[in-house]
Amino acid sequence: MEFIDRVEELRKLEEGLKRGESFVIVAPRRYGKTTLIRKVLRELEDKKFLTLYIDLMPYADSVSALSKHIFNRTLDLLGIEGKIRKLSHLFQIKGKAVLKEEGIEINLEVFKGTDEREMLREALELPEKIASRKGRRMVVAFDEFGEIYKTNPQAVKLFRSVIQHHEHTSYIFAGSQETIMKKVFMDKDGVFFRFGTLVELGGLELKDTLEYAVDNLGVPADEFVEMFKLLKGHPYYLARVIEKVRSGKEILNALEELVEEEKAYIELLVERVLSMKHALEVLRAIAREKNPYEVLEVKDQVVNRTLNKLISYGYLRRVGRGVYEFTDPLLELYLKER
Ligand SMILES: Nc1ncnc2c1ncn2[C@@H]1O[C@H](COP(=O)(O)OP(=O)(O)OP(=O)(O)O)[C@@H](O)[C@H]1O
Ligand SMILES: [Mg+2]
Repeated sequence: MEFIDRVEELRKLEEGLKRGESFVIVAPRRYGKTTLIRKVLRELEDKKFLTLYIDLMPYADSVSALSKHIFNRTLDLLGIEGKIRKLSHLFQIKGKAVLKEEGIEINLEVFKGTDEREMLREALELPEKIASRKGRRMVVAFDEFGEIYKTNPQAVKLFRSVIQHHEHTSYIFAGSQETIMKKVFMDKDGVFFRFGTLVELGGLELKDTLEYAVDNLGVPADEFVEMFKLLKGHPYYLARVIEKVRSGKEILNALEELVEEEKAYIELLVERVLSMKHALEVLRAIAREKNPYEVLEVKDQVVNRTLNKLISYGYLRRVGRGVYEFTDPLLELYLKER
């Protein structure tokens, strides 16, 4: 799939990162955060930046595993495989190791110990050391940052205290839990308050996507617009339909196939929501364009709490006073009928 749209966001990120600004990217699941990050990192690499992409999801519950992962990925930047092998050998010895050719000092001892905070500190310092040593700018992207805040808010504090001193490195933080991300980065009591510029990804723009589809696929514009409206600009679903159309399918068939293929995923979303009291009823009301406060026979407070939970888990978005939208158009469609 080629990269559609996001021209504005891409430009903003690229220009800011070149100036040394840091960014916070917030969007629901499957809206294209990772795609955008990877794209901007590739562009910057072409311009001789050093870049590092770290997905925190698999490491959210182990600071030592996370530290070692950051450490290893950063060493990859030094390129020569032999160095890495040498380093793994050095893990056996005591004290500070210096990568001779690069003049970068690393305290390997901490990675053998049990002090996880020291490990993380050492790992987080490494990209900056390399950037400084090489006289190049570094961009480090932490994807799924909300995950680590959920399991280990103390580690997030450490992140801040280490990286705030970095002069050669800019950072991107991305996450899909809007409530958590905003609490950390936008709240004035948040650990990372004012650390970076916020970029919120919405759905794709009809105009750009339509242009792309008509130019590249020669699809009938009116059918495409119908499909686009149904999917509400959802980047991942649109990309999937477009892919199917590219391989020769009619738009309507492609859409039908998508719904069929996503059914299991949507049912999983529904299943997850079942453990949250009243959540399914609230979602159903909204899918059917009813007012949940009127439909549910519980106190307003309860509806309120449920709505907030659904927002923090990424099911809904508040788009105005008392107005809520599904982040997943297929879930909305599913609940409309059932
Ligand atoms: N601008 C885009 N152009 C083309 N395809 C896109 C675009 N944005 C997203 N996609 C498609 O949607 C899929 C999901 O995007 P991506 O993985 O980047 O989302 P995400 O926000 O990181 O999701 P998650 O929160 O689940 O990690 C990608 O595999 C890609 O194919
Ligand atoms: Mg992602």
